[in-house]
Amino acid sequence: MPGAAGGPATEELRPILAAAGPVVASLLGSAEERLAQIAAAERVPAPADALAAHSSSTLAAGGKRLRPLLVFICGAAEDDPAQGLVGAACAVELVHMAALLHDDVLDRAALRRGLPTVYSTAGRQAATATGDYLFACAFAELAETAGPDAVRTLSDASTALVRGELMQRADAWSGDVTPGRYLERCALKTASLFTAACALGAMLGDPGPPAAGALAEFGREIGLAFQILDDVLDIAGQPDQTGKRVGTDLLDGTVTLPVILARARDPEIRAIDLRSITDPAQAEALCARIAATGALEEAREAALEHVAAAKAALRRSGVDDRRLAALELVADGVVRRQA
Ligand code: FPP
Ligand code: MG
Repeated sequence: MPGAAGGPATEELRPILAAAGPVVASLLGSAEERLAQIAAAERVPAPADALAAHSSSTLAAGGKRLRPLLVFICGAAEDDPAQGLVGAACAVELVHMAALLHDDVLDRAALRRGLPTVYSTAGRQAATATGDYLFACAFAELAETAGPDAVRTLSDASTALVRGELMQRADAWSGDVTPGRYLERCALKTASLFTAACALGAMLGDPGPPAAGALAEFGREIGLAFQILDDVLDIAGQPDQTGKRVGTDLLDGTVTLPVILARARDPEIRAIDLRSITDPAQAEALCARIAATGALEEAREAALEHVAAAKAALRRSGVDDRRLAALELVADGVVRRQA
């Protein structure tokens, strides 16, 4: 999948940018510059050195910039892009960065994207405060460049993230999580921000209100596919590509679709108390057993169904051929990625 413009995954971004057109590529560059300015915390009164260092290292750790990309493809006309799109794209990415900083505190995560987390290098207060700062910046950015409807859209998505996180904690290590409840959690903790990215692009940009609902639905469906694939990669990804060991979710108590499906397929796995998985070697061994049940293929199928639903919503949206082609490539990339 795509990385930051000019970042490590630029190769994978190329076909999407070629389909989306030069305006989207240029807007991504502008968003990257604006994010770097915000992370540098230049307008924050001293002492802000630590805040700037942690924000900048979080930004530099990369990420696919998938959410800004969605804002731009959904919103940008072929020339003369609408005012406010860069601010909205930055705002969505800032909420995403803030949520990951906080998530790493809650998970006590040592690594993200293969690099040490702010939590592990600077501690929980620093990581939490950096997340708070980026979260505050997101709304400042949106307030300066878009209207109250846009602020409400991002606020609702942020609330959904919080609800998803709490639901994940409530369901930790539970053997009773159903596929439906899992999907509800994914809709809250992941798809909500994809939905908001597409909705903000449609709201602030060119397609206008008729396309907005269908584009938001497209965002939700690729968000669900994205999270399912993420959870498959946690069981069977290549650590040198994902930047983390397999089985991390098992150690956190996060009950994902592959685990739910494997438990349904194999009574011996069903009999395992998930709380008994406490060290990485045990988690890795359980990942291999989960893979042997065929649950990963079933989960990938589920992800592909969401990609198909996303493409159906896209066709209903009536967007022009340029956007249609670029968004279809994004949808395919969400399930093709290895990291
Ligand atoms: C990463 O998913 C985490 C999220 C998508 C959401 C985390 C949300 C919060 C901490 C609450 C909301 C915070 C703000 C600032 C709005 P994951 O845990 O499945 O992935 P991982 O394995 O990469 O950690
Ligand atoms: Mg996590």
